[in-house]
Amino acid sequence: MSGRFKAIKGAKDLLPSETVRWRALESTIHDFMARWGYGEIRTPVFEQTELFARSVGEESEIVSKQMYTFLDQGENSLTLKPELTAPAMRAYIQHDLSRSGALTKLYYIDSLFRQERPQAGRLRQFHQYGVEAIGSPHPEQDADVIALAYKLLEELNIKNMTLLISSIGSEECRTRYRDALTDYLSPFRNDLSETSQKRLQTNPLRILDTKDPEERGILQDAPHLLDYLDGDDRKHYDGVKKYLTDLDIPYVEAPILVRGLDYYSRTTFEITHPGLGAQNALCGGGRYDNLIEDLGGQPTPAVGFAAGIERILLVLEEGQTAPINGGIAVYAVAASDEARRDIFRLVRDLREERIRAEFDTLRRSLKAQMREADRMNCTHAVIIGEDELKEDRVLVKNLSTGKQADVKTERLVSHLRNGD
Ligand code: HAM
Repeated sequence: MSGRFKAIKGAKDLLPSETVRWRALESTIHDFMARWGYGEIRTPVFEQTELFARSVGEESEIVSKQMYTFLDQGENSLTLKPELTAPAMRAYIQHDLSRSGALTKLYYIDSLFRQERPQAGRLRQFHQYGVEAIGSPHPEQDADVIALAYKLLEELNIKNMTLLISSIGSEECRTRYRDALTDYLSPFRNDLSETSQKRLQTNPLRILDTKDPEERGILQDAPHLLDYLDGDDRKHYDGVKKYLTDLDIPYVEAPILVRGLDYYSRTTFEITHPGLGAQNALCGGGRYDNLIEDLGGQPTPAVGFAAGIERILLVLEEGQTAPINGGIAVYAVAASDEARRDIFRLVRDLREERIRAEFDTLRRSLKAQMREADRMNCTHAVIIGEDELKEDRVLVKNLSTGKQADVKTERLVSHLRNGD
C-alpha cells in the first residue's frame, strides 16, 4: 500500500515499534533532570521570526537558509522554531522567571524545524532535549552543564564519545581574532569559495566552519582563537577545564569550535560519536552571556546545550534503552463462543488492576488466539471455556515456561503477580 500522500521529506512518522524506544529515552531524561534540579519548560511551536533573527543571527545558515517562515492572516511573520534556546529565553524574560531565584534551571524535550538537506541523522523536523542554566557567570556552571550532557549520555550506555571543548572568548577577544584571521586569509582570497569571500567581509569566523577540503587546507596554519584569550576569558576557560578534570570527565580541546548560532560567548562544546558519520554531533552548546539582554531582558549570564534525540537513538543499539513491557501481559483467550462475553469482563478487571490485557475482537479460533498471544509478546494466556465458565475458574498458561495451572477466577491476579 502506498496511498496518495506521504509525510514531508525529512519529517518522520514514529510507529508503535519505535515510540517504545522514544518513551524509554524520554523517561530517562525526565528522571535524570529531576535529579539535577532542572524544571521542564514547553514553549509554542512558532514564534515571531524576529526572535530568531536577533538571537541565532541574520547571517547564520539557520536564519538565512533553513527556517520555515510564513505570514499568518494578520501578516505577522512567524517561524516554526529552528532551535529552543531563544524561545526559552523569551519565556524566561516574559514570565520574569528570575523572580523565583538567582539561578533558574530549565530543560526541554521538543521538536524543531530546519530546512536542511535530509540525510542519515539530519532531518527537517527533529527532536532535542537540552538544558539552560540561567544566572551564573562562573566556570563551575559551565562545567556542571557539560557534566550533565556527558553523564546523561553515559547513563544511556553510550560508549566512545568525544567531548570537545573550546572558548570563543568575549566580544573584544573575538574582534582581535577576527582581524588576525582576516589578515591571514586575505592573501588566499582568490582561492576561497564565493560564500567564503563574502564571509571574509562580513563574518570571517564562519569560514572556520567550512567543509570544503581546499579551504580546510588553507585553514591548517590559520591563527587559533584560543591563543587570543586573555584576562578573564582565559581564567574562565582554565576554570572550566579544571572542574572537568576534577570530575574525571575526559575532554579534548578543540582549537576551533565555532558553532552555527551567533549567541555564544566564551565556552563552546560538542559531544561527537564516530558511529554517526558526517553528522557526528550528538549534542552541542555553550555560554551565551549577552542573549537575554539582547532580547530585552536584564543582563543575565547563561549556559546550556541541546542534544539530538534521533542521533542518540541511532547510536543506541536496538532495545538497549527499552525495558519493554517489563510486567505481566495477559492474552485472554475464549475457548468457546459463550466465553467471549466473560472475556470482556475479565479483561476489564485485569486492566483495572493495571495489568496489560488483550483479547480477540475478530472472533478467531482458539489456535489463532494463542498465536496472537505470542505475537503480542504476552507473558500469559488466560483461557476460558465452557467448563471454566461454569466453575468460575480459568486456565492460565505461562507462555515462557509453558506451565499451565487451573486457577479460581478470584485468585487470578495474585497467581499472576506471584510470577507463576
Ligand atoms: P545545535 O548545535 O544547532 O545547537 O543543535 C544541537 C544538536 O541537535 C546537534 O548536536 C544535533 O545532535 C541535533 N541536530 C541539529 N540539527 C539537526 C538536524 N537537522 N537533524 C537532526 N538532529 C539535528 C542548538 O540548537 C542550541 N540551541 C544548543 C544550545 C542550548 N546552546 C545553548 N543552549
